[in-house]
Amino acid sequence: MLKVVVMVSGGGTNLQAILDAIDSGKITNAQVTAVISNNPGAYALERAGQHGIEAVCISPKTFSDREAFNQALLEKVKEYAPDLIVLAGFLVTIPPAMIQEYRGKIINIHPSLIPSFCGVGYYGLKVHEAALARGVKITGATVHYVDEGVDSGPIILQKAVEVKEGDTPEILQRRVMEEAEWKILPEAINRIANGERSVS
Ligand code: GAR
Repeated sequence: MLKVVVMVSGGGTNLQAILDAIDSGKITNAQVTAVISNNPGAYALERAGQHGIEAVCISPKTFSDREAFNQALLEKVKEYAPDLIVLAGFLVTIPPAMIQEYRGKIINIHPSLIPSFCGVGYYGLKVHEAALARGVKITGATVHYVDEGVDSGPIILQKAVEVKEGDTPEILQRRVMEEAEWKILPEAINRIANGERSVS
């Protein structure tokens, strides 16, 4: 049974999609053992609690400097001895020490077709604002492994989503979540949990 720690910063709809997929049997051989947030107000923490999953907050604001926060975050993660760490809307840079310790065991969901609209400064709604500003007709989402770069690790799954006339960033964000993110993130976890070596 794959032990999964999910890291979140906000609403947690991707976390919910993972929990629903486990409940419905779309993900097998995996359990979410903890949810960690950097943001005490993250609704994702409530979702975890409602599901009987341990939910903890490690806020950078409660540490004297970034290094102390990074260390505390890594120590907390280690307590759960995860087989897989899922960044589901976790908007904090992963400390290099954590990447070293869990190389090949950290995956991230990004709301565009990488390499478009990714890297430093592209997160959340900003990704969809940039896609609309550029006028692309197709966007989507990507699940990838996390390495030292920003959104630069090997790609596991991608799914395309149509951009429609009259889309606002909010409307497009919702469509990308519904049609792509909530599908490919659970699917990637299921593939990893069931030992697919090649997941691309
Ligand atoms: C999702 O759209 C996710 O792809 C994005 O944040 C949102 C979190 O929503 N992540 C990034 O932009 C990472 N660069 P959620 O909390 O409802 O799952």
